[in-house]
Amino acid sequence: MLSDNQLYAKAKTASQNAYAPYSQFKVGAAVLTESGSIYSGCNVENASYGNAICAERVAIAKAVSEGDRNIRSIAVYTEGKDLSPCGICRQFISEFGSKITVIYRSSGQIIAKEISDLLPDSFSKKDLR
Ligand code: THU
Repeated sequence: MLSDNQLYAKAKTASQNAYAPYSQFKVGAAVLTESGSIYSGCNVENASYGNAICAERVAIAKAVSEGDRNIRSIAVYTEGKDLSPCGICRQFISEFGSKITVIYRSSGQIIAKEISDLLPDSFSKKDLR
């Protein structure tokens, strides 16, 4: 099974494919599933700015669309800067489990936190019952 640092390196590689002509902010993400598979993603922007999709959601959608939705961890990367997932992505990640590890750079260090710590008291399927 890949280490956190190895998954972070996969997110870095994925950032090379970022389509970010509007923000110039290139992001990569990599998902590791319980089966040991890796799915990477990058942000994909659009001339209709609000139509951009973040790297994390691209990577997760790739895993889920391959029928592999037992997500163990997700790493997110941008060059030379701290970056933690945006609110929409936190909600998107938490859909697939409260214990998913999120790997990102904070104060210059690569750290790992559980999604439930990044999005406490989240809205989820239990609220729809
Ligand atoms: N972005 C991501 O891909 N992931 C994040 O966690 C934060 C933001 C993208 C969206 C947009 O293409 C660009 O970064 C600037 O917001």
